[in-house]
Amino acid sequence: MKLLIKNIKELIQVEKSPKLKVAGREMANLETIKDAYLYIDKGKIAEFGTMADIGQSSVVSQQSSIKKIDAKGKMVFPCWCDSHTHLVYPQSREIEYIDKIKGLSYEEIARRGGGILNSAKKMHETSEDELVESALKRLEEITIYGTGAVEIKSGYGLNFENELKMLRVIRRLKEISPLTIKATFLGAHAIPAEYKKNQSEYVDLIINEMIPMIASDELADYIDVFCDRGFFTVEDTDRILMAGMKYGLRPKIHANELDYSGGIQVGVKYNALSVDHLEFTRDEEIKVLLDSETMPTVLPGAAFFLGMVYAPVRKMIDSGLPVALGSDFNPGSAPSGNMQFILSIGSIAYKMLPEEGINATTINGAYAMGISEELGSIAVGKKANVFITKEIPTYEYMPYAFGSNKVETVILNGKIIKQ
Ligand code: NIG
Ligand code: FE
Repeated sequence: MKLLIKNIKELIQVEKSPKLKVAGREMANLETIKDAYLYIDKGKIAEFGTMADIGQSSVVSQQSSIKKIDAKGKMVFPCWCDSHTHLVYPQSREIEYIDKIKGLSYEEIARRGGGILNSAKKMHETSEDELVESALKRLEEITIYGTGAVEIKSGYGLNFENELKMLRVIRRLKEISPLTIKATFLGAHAIPAEYKKNQSEYVDLIINEMIPMIASDELADYIDVFCDRGFFTVEDTDRILMAGMKYGLRPKIHANELDYSGGIQVGVKYNALSVDHLEFTRDEEIKVLLDSETMPTVLPGAAFFLGMVYAPVRKMIDSGLPVALGSDFNPGSAPSGNMQFILSIGSIAYKMLPEEGINATTINGAYAMGISEELGSIAVGKKANVFITKEIPTYEYMPYAFGSNKVETVILNGKIIKQ
C-alpha cells in the first residue's frame, strides 16, 4: 500500500544520515520538520519533507493510487521501541502486590516463594495456546499506546520444558503479530525451589541442556541473566554468558537493580547489547560503560511501582553515555507496557529532557534490541512503523501530559493498524 500523510504539524525524529544510537549531549538533539509530509511505500519510509516541497517530489507526483491522510494539527513520530519486556506470562499478580503495599520488599516476597517462582508455578499449568492468546491482547494494548517493536523474554518457565514452551510462544507471536519482536532466553531469571541448595546445578542445566536446544531450534535472538543480590552471581553469569556466546547468543542482561552486583562489568565483558535496570550505578560502572558498545537501559516503571531508588540517569547522560528507556512490562515489578507513561516517568524521575526521553524510547531502544538500522527514527528505507498523534500543541506535550493516550493512529509495516 502507498500512503501519504500530509499537513503534518511536526514530523519528529527525522534523520538524513541515520545513526545507530545517540549518546551524551547529543541525546538532547531531536531533528524535526514542521508542516511536513511522509510518504510510505511497500511498508517502508520512501520520502519525507516539507509541504512546500511536495510539489517537486517526483516520487509522490508519479503515484496515482495513494491513500492520503490529512494530519492537520497532528504530529507523526516513529513508533516506540520497547527493548525490555516479560509480556508472556500466565497471570497477573495483584494479590501479591497487596503484601508489597503492606511493606514487604520485592526480595522478601520472592523468598516466600512469591514473585517469579509464583509465575513459574502457574506457567507450568498454562498451555501454549492460552499464553499466545493472553500475550496477543497485551501486544494489542501496547500498540494502542504507540509501540512498534518489542523484545520479549522467557524466564517464567525455569525448567527445560517450560522455558522452551515460552520461547515457542514468542516465536508464534513473531509470526502472528504485526509488531517487530525479538526473543530473549532468560532461563536464569530465578533459582527454582528444587535447586535452592545447589544453584550451580541449575546453571549446569541452563548451559548443558537449555542453551544447545534453544540455539539449534533458533528460538532466541539474545540471552539474559538476572545478575543481582539473591539471584545469580557474577560467576554464574560469567558461565552462562560464555556458553551463550559459543552459540551466538549476544547478552542483554538484568544488572544492578538491587545492589552493586558486578552485573554491569560482566555484561560489558561479554559485549552485551544492553545492561538493564542500573539503579546501583557509580562512577566505576559509568567508566566501564563508556568504554563499551553496550546500551545502558533503564526501566523506570519498575522503580516507580516497587518504590525503589531510581538509576542516576542524569549523571549517566552528563558523563557521555547513551541511555534507552524500556517498560519492563511484567506481572511482578511493572504491570504496564505503556511507553508514553515510561517517557513521562523519564522526565519526572530522571529529569530527562523531552528530546532525551524521545531518543531513549526510539532510536536507543531500537539499538538495545539490535534493530536500529531498520527502526527507531524517520529515515528513508526504514520500516514504516510510525504513529500519528491526536491534535497536540508541541512534542514536549508527549512526556508532560502523563496518563492520557496521545496516540490516534498507528501504522505498522506501512499498514494502518489502529485509528
Ligand atoms: O525485570 N528483575 C527481575 N525480573 C523482572 C521482574 C519479574 C517478576 O517479578 O515477575 C524485572 O523487574
Ligand atoms: Fe526485567
